[in-house]
Amino acid sequence: MNTAPTQTSALSKRKRVAILISGRGSNMAALIAATMDSDYPVIISKVISSKADVSGLEIARSNGIEAITIERSAFDSTSDYEAALIEELALDEPAYICLAGYMRLLTEKFVNRFNGRILNIHPSLLPSFKGLDTHHRAIESGVRLHGCSVHFVTATLDDGPIIAQASVPVLPNDDEEDLAARVLVAEHQLYPKVLGLLASDAIRLSGMRVVFSDTFPVTNSKNCLSSIA
Ligand code: GRF
Repeated sequence: MNTAPTQTSALSKRKRVAILISGRGSNMAALIAATMDSDYPVIISKVISSKADVSGLEIARSNGIEAITIERSAFDSTSDYEAALIEELALDEPAYICLAGYMRLLTEKFVNRFNGRILNIHPSLLPSFKGLDTHHRAIESGVRLHGCSVHFVTATLDDGPIIAQASVPVLPNDDEEDLAARVLVAEHQLYPKVLGLLASDAIRLSGMRVVFSDTFPVTNSKNCLSSIA
């Protein structure tokens, strides 16, 4: 009998979260791993990839999670593609949608449908280095601190309200791979923490501001953003 932990226990009290991916899915895997603790307030209800045959899909399935592909190329328009995405997501009514290496910009219509409930992780300390190639650009620019940000998603690329950030040093001899690997470790810690706090109502979005509840477990009150990393 397989006695490996699953995310199914105490299902009813935990919030459903859908994850959108486009590739390797290591952040998705970190979120799934967090749900193996039955006290974590989230279960992953579904994974949707914008690309077929990516390793993230296999990782999700091997954890017993429904994982499907919806590709833009199968539709005549972005509007039709997003309508299909919304239809699939609506089946589970997820409390939150986590983008985890999802390589498409969502339209305002999609974002408004799930207003304040879509999160993304970006591999830079936003608002620096929006977009692609963040590690290369960080090294080129000479910054000594780099990192990752979890933010609410708007229709503008990497632009929504920042919830939390984790920083890592940029060391003198770092190449892009060294720095990417260091940031990725921070990503895998930060994203599950933020999602857990959000799902337990310790964080909420008020207009375009992120509000932390009084019970937020701040250990370093001067900088609650890095204290949860
Ligand atoms: C991560 O660096 C994430 O921050 C960015 O895309 C990358 C995805 O990696 N948005 P993975 O698919 O989670 O391994």
